Amino acid sequence: MKGFNPSFSPETASTYDNAPRGDEDDTVRFLAGFGKSALEFAVGTGRIALPLAQAGVAVDGIELSPHMVARMREKPGGDDIPVTMGDMSRTGTGRTYDLVYLVYNTITNLLTQDDQVRCFENAARHLTRDGVFVIECGVPSWAARARNQFIDVEAVEVDRVELDVNRYDPVTQMLDENHVRIGVDGIRFGAIRQRLSYPSEFDLMARIAGLRLRARHSGWNGEPFVAASTRHVSVYERAA
Ligand SMILES: C[S@@+](CC[C@H](N)C(=O)[O-])C[C@H]1O[C@@H](n2cnc3c(N)ncnc32)[C@H](O)[C@@H]1O
Repeated sequence: MKGFNPSFSPETASTYDNAPRGDEDDTVRFLAGFGKSALEFAVGTGRIALPLAQAGVAVDGIELSPHMVARMREKPGGDDIPVTMGDMSRTGTGRTYDLVYLVYNTITNLLTQDDQVRCFENAARHLTRDGVFVIECGVPSWAARARNQFIDVEAVEVDRVELDVNRYDPVTQMLDENHVRIGVDGIRFGAIRQRLSYPSEFDLMARIAGLRLRARHSGWNGEPFVAASTRHVSVYERAA
């Protein structure tokens, strides 16, 4: 997908908060249990950082998109979250935290295995001795779809259809996806490119970064991670 930019655009930023996932309260309850200081990689519009700060955790962020951060600044408390602009696989804030977290599949926005490993290493650099790195990510299922390409129908109305168009390359583990909205007012695209990894690959990345898996759940309420799980919440700690 030539020309794809992982930094969210002004248009995406302007609509990002229109459809919240609905798991924000559970996410914050889970994350608030790890201490009083936290760093969110890819903090975005503060969907999690703002309520986590309200819960008493001092939250910093790293983010690529100035448009996403500008949206956060418009919200109550949005000026109180220090954000370092840059790539979460390389950028440092110069301090350490009880918790570094990276949610909503966003580690897949790093498009090479090397960059995902660097992200684990960068998280490890920002952890206090007892700190943890938490990631939340979907479990790849695309390889099971016929011919590694498919279209999911997301909406069918009289004057509008919405299609999720996907192509997966099992060699590079790259998923090219475009949410296409066709309506009487025209056609709109929402492109995203992701490098998908299984939880076991993340565990090896953690090991390279000097971390190890402490716990893995399939949701924010400690649900067990089993064969049918479609996502994981993984908690990594220092290996020694
Ligand atoms: C799906 S949003 C998640 C935002 C926020 N974490 C949340 O849960 O709502 C993905 C965010 O990652 C940012 N992003 C993508 N690649 C990044 C990178 N390499 N470093 C920092 N931020 C990145 C995008 O600009 C966007 O704000």
